[in-house]
Amino acid sequence: MDHDNHLSRKTVLKAALAAGASVPIAMAGVPALARTARDSGGSPVFTPACDDGDDPTPAQTEGPYFKPNSPRRTSLVDASTQGTRLTVTGFVFGAACRPIANVLLDFWQADTNGAYDNSGYRLRGHQFTDAQGAFSLTTIVPGLYPGRTRHIHVKAQAPNRPVLTTQLYFPGEPRNSTDTIFDPELLMTVRANGPAREASYDFVLNVPQSPGPGDPSDPTDPPTGGAWKAGAAYRAGDRAAYGGRSYACLQAHTAQAGWEPPNAPALWRAQ
Ligand SMILES: [Fe+2]
Repeated sequence: MDHDNHLSRKTVLKAALAAGASVPIAMAGVPALARTARDSGGSPVFTPACDDGDDPTPAQTEGPYFKPNSPRRTSLVDASTQGTRLTVTGFVFGAACRPIANVLLDFWQADTNGAYDNSGYRLRGHQFTDAQGAFSLTTIVPGLYPGRTRHIHVKAQAPNRPVLTTQLYFPGEPRNSTDTIFDPELLMTVRANGPAREASYDFVLNVPQSPGPGDPSDPTDPPTGGAWKAGAAYRAGDRAAYGGRSYACLQAHTAQAGWEPPNAPALWRAQ
């Protein structure tokens, strides 16, 4: 595997987001834009690139606190929940870097004091990725407990596929260097938003996929689509021409002024 020499769709998304300043403000609602360089300062170190399909998100131990039958919900908090608010957003990709819809994601974590709810379902919940393979979790920053660094547990299962059990980690945690199962490939990107935190992580599941429209290697791709126009609904893989260049759509959206392909690297990749 070579993460440096393959420019993947996901890498492009992330690079676009790291570029930040060139992204129109109107795009703030696009989920992928939650991806930013780590707030620790230095150059961003991204989670595994979804480039050649051979580097799925690593598995980790389930630990002692998983409970089946969690409620289906995207928010694990209510007004009484103590702790720093945290959103985690991202996508689930398969082996060909195409997003997977309807992936079951079951999250569980400690409360702000480092305790799991083993009698009820506080800070436990499951959800499914949407048609674009995206998910969004509203929760709190988990507290620390003895022997471990800060983490969120998750099980991810694409339809009719095995379960991936793993954990997500936070950058800049002192205990990351002493936790024996910590894996930097499972680091989320995290930034502060006022008193809250916004994290992102993209899963790559070992789910076979055939290359789809928009993959440069797909010989069935049309050489170019019609001219880009505001108001048009584009799907991932669609092509559009703008300013004499051909672009491939990276994620479904309805085009609007300000999101012209050269201005929206999170949405369009030049061919
Ligand atoms: Fe845990």
